Amino acid sequence: MNGPALPRALVTGGSEGIGRAFARRLAAAGYTVTVVARNEVRLNALLDELGPGHHALTADLAAEAGLRRVVHELAVNRFDLLVNNAGTAAPGPFADVPLEAATSVMRLNCDALTTLTHAFLSGARAGDSLVNVSSTLAFAPMPNLSVYSATKAFVTSLSESLWFEQKKRGVYVMGLCPGMTATRSQPHTGEGAPAGLVQTPEQVVTVALAALRRRRRPTVICGKKNALFTAATRALPRRTLLALLGGGRTSSPQACVPNGEPT
Ligand SMILES: NC(=O)c1ccc[n+]([C@@H]2O[C@H](COP(=O)([O-])OP(=O)(O)OC[C@H]3O[C@@H](n4cnc5c(N)ncnc54)[C@H](OP(=O)(O)O)[C@@H]3O)[C@@H](O)[C@H]2O)c1
Repeated sequence: MNGPALPRALVTGGSEGIGRAFARRLAAAGYTVTVVARNEVRLNALLDELGPGHHALTADLAAEAGLRRVVHELAVNRFDLLVNNAGTAAPGPFADVPLEAATSVMRLNCDALTTLTHAFLSGARAGDSLVNVSSTLAFAPMPNLSVYSATKAFVTSLSESLWFEQKKRGVYVMGLCPGMTATRSQPHTGEGAPAGLVQTPEQVVTVALAALRRRRRPTVICGKKNALFTAATRALPRRTLLALLGGGRTSSPQACVPNGEPT
């Protein structure tokens, strides 16, 4: 006799960092996991680690064909949970960053996330969940990461509206806001990243999974220090906030943190 079907989760950007931690923890919790990323070698290494029964989908979500492949996957297979985690940044003064790099950040962080959110929610049932990985920078316009912080403001705002819309259907939508998290692309080992403020991907996912069990908050901020940071961003006058984030020199757009997320 067959037992009840295992819950299924799809995690974008599941081969590295926060997405990889999601994939491992969800598999350990009994989910059948589908991970999406571009690098097939890293995806297969993860599948080896997760053991049998899990799946990988090689797709570039910033490209139309790759995005279409994942939309199709969401249409033909039922998923109980979607984690929209894949995200990227193009650091540097906005006018110096090639336009294609900036618009590619928007395609992945906003267009792909919105498209997959729509594909998932149109077939979602009561009890299903959607996690959109945003950032504490959703609350802080960040010089030298201007497009990135703007995309994260979009992700948090979208997720909060959808949290309200979907509540009556019993579908839970969460905007997850990690602060500095040590991953391969953003190790946060430089001077601008005091060790006490940098979380591990596992810590971020622990917070997310606890919130997924409670199914209450539209926006989940990872840890007390990050919550303090976001409270400060709301309390401070905008000019003061920008001066602090920009390195205290409002006149120089060069003044900023290196390639990473401040708190
Ligand atoms: N690390 C931080 O400090 C931090 C803080 C706040 C929020 N976040 C957010 O958390 C999320 C994960 O960040 P992370 O630091 O864990 O990232 P990461 O270590 O750089 O991993 C990114 C993942 O996304 C995949 N990916 C990148 N571009 C993709 C594309 N075009 N199509 C499909 N997959 C793609 C990567 O695999 P491939 O390269 O093989 O495609 C990888 O699996 C992002 O949304 C980020 O903005 C991170």
